[in-house]
Amino acid sequence: MSLLVLSTSLHPTSRSRILCRACLAALETRGAEVAFADLRDFPLPMCDGDSAYGDPNVRRIADLIRRASAILVGVPVYNYDVNAALKNALELTGSAWTGKIVGFLCAAGGGTSYMSVMSFANSLMLDFRCLIIPRFVYAEGDDFDGDTIRTADIQHRVDELAGTALGLAAALRDIVPRG
Ligand SMILES: Cc1cc2nc3c(=O)[nH]c(=O)nc-3n(C[C@H](O)[C@H](O)[C@H](O)COP(=O)(O)O)c2cc1C
Repeated sequence: MSLLVLSTSLHPTSRSRILCRACLAALETRGAEVAFADLRDFPLPMCDGDSAYGDPNVRRIADLIRRASAILVGVPVYNYDVNAALKNALELTGSAWTGKIVGFLCAAGGGTSYMSVMSFANSLMLDFRCLIIPRFVYAEGDDFDGDTIRTADIQHRVDELAGTALGLAAALRDIVPRG
């Protein structure tokens, strides 16, 4: 049973990447087998529904997703939605997400966009039968101080998400259908 922390912001000093690093640390503290992937390290073509699927980075990121039982996705909120890089990655990797447990670590500019991951989450649930962890992390600019998490509440939510993902992955190891 292994988990994947997937950072999807392409920003050089991304805040959702800070959340991802904290989540990775929380999972490692719990002794989890966990991998970390950053979309900045896997430049992806735009999905054309055709030849883009053959890109080597698409295959690499799809393999990482396929191998994980749970995926903790660090995501920037853009225009009341997930960023286009994550949406594009999902379009390219599609069925690799089948049956995964998925949690979100969101960075946003303000509090009013807190439902922004819902259409992406719906797609994961309806298209790929993912189990979405309902209590996700949603952090705003004031929750960070440079490259660290400033507020205890956000650190607590990250720890809680890590624990929930690990617990669900263990409990559902032989139950959630894959592929
Ligand atoms: C194109 C763009 C659109 C954005 N749209 C929203 C938005 O709808 N709601 C919001 O709260 N913040 C919005 N923001 C602010 C980002 O969510 C914020 O900068 C966040 O830290 C980005 O995540 P990152 O630091 O991991 O890249 C937007 C930023 C950009 C660049």
